[in-house]
Amino acid sequence: MTRELTQLEILTELEPVAEQNLNRHLSMAKDWHPHDYVPWDEGRNFADLGGVAWDPSQSRLSEVAKIAMITNLLTEDNLPSYHREISENFSQEGAWGTWVGRWTAEENRHSIVIRDYLVVTRGVDPVALERARMIHMTNGVAAPAEWGGFLQNVAYVTFQELATRVSHRNTGKVCDDPIADRMLQRVAADENLHMIFYRSLCGAGLDLVPDQAIEAIVKVLTHFVMPGTGMPNWRRNGVTMAKHGIYDLRQHLEQVVEPVLENWNIFDRNDFGPRGEQAREELGRFLEKMERDVVKFEEQRDRMLAREAARAMASV
Ligand SMILES: [Fe+2]
Ligand SMILES: [Fe+2]
Repeated sequence: MTRELTQLEILTELEPVAEQNLNRHLSMAKDWHPHDYVPWDEGRNFADLGGVAWDPSQSRLSEVAKIAMITNLLTEDNLPSYHREISENFSQEGAWGTWVGRWTAEENRHSIVIRDYLVVTRGVDPVALERARMIHMTNGVAAPAEWGGFLQNVAYVTFQELATRVSHRNTGKVCDDPIADRMLQRVAADENLHMIFYRSLCGAGLDLVPDQAIEAIVKVLTHFVMPGTGMPNWRRNGVTMAKHGIYDLRQHLEQVVEPVLENWNIFDRNDFGPRGEQAREELGRFLEKMERDVVKFEEQRDRMLAREAARAMASV
């Protein structure tokens, strides 16, 4: 196909694929309930109801686990912003509309269950958490100015769902609590199913309009930021999470970017025109640079961790 398709034409063409994948999703999704994942018997009143105020000594979570939990939860809290992006760029009609509603409802469970867990177990300061939520949701999240349209959005959410899956799963591991681990595995399994829906739709977009789709994918990957950008302490917490292997550049490359590109068969396709070929070459160069950056980051991280270990030894 040589002619550019409009947003509306793409959505109309892909509607049967959306319906098929919506049905697949509904048949695969587990109807789980947040209350089943929270240790309610650990709960007790806070000071205003005559109980005990939060105190840092009550938390069993390490500093790294706290940071990862708060970052993941605030990201999930910002669902209204993500809903707005998706609903503005997908159709409200038919299977598209049903998907947007269903996806939003499923995502809402993630913030419900994580917040309930953190408040009941007193894992983090509930006042600081609530203040951070107010700031983050008030700011909202806007897609970068140069983004727009269905293809870029569906490409972004494909990578983003897989990225949150990795981040939730690794956060579960650092919590050192089987209940938190089970809860975050449950959330991560949802993110994986979401990723499969978006990956399938973006893949169908590649088959329909290869050049337009690869250009959108390359733009998204070369400008990728994790969801949650702009939340309080975003950069510092991101560095801590990368340093401790919750979400780092190698994971981004090897567990998120590469498997998706492979699924779309990006480097073996022969349906690109000159524009698509050019975008694919740009992507190739971008991935090579990322591989070099991974090595650089890990060398830096190793040095930093060695310094910290030496300091800790010296202070014993
Ligand atoms: Fe989520
Ligand atoms: Fe998700």
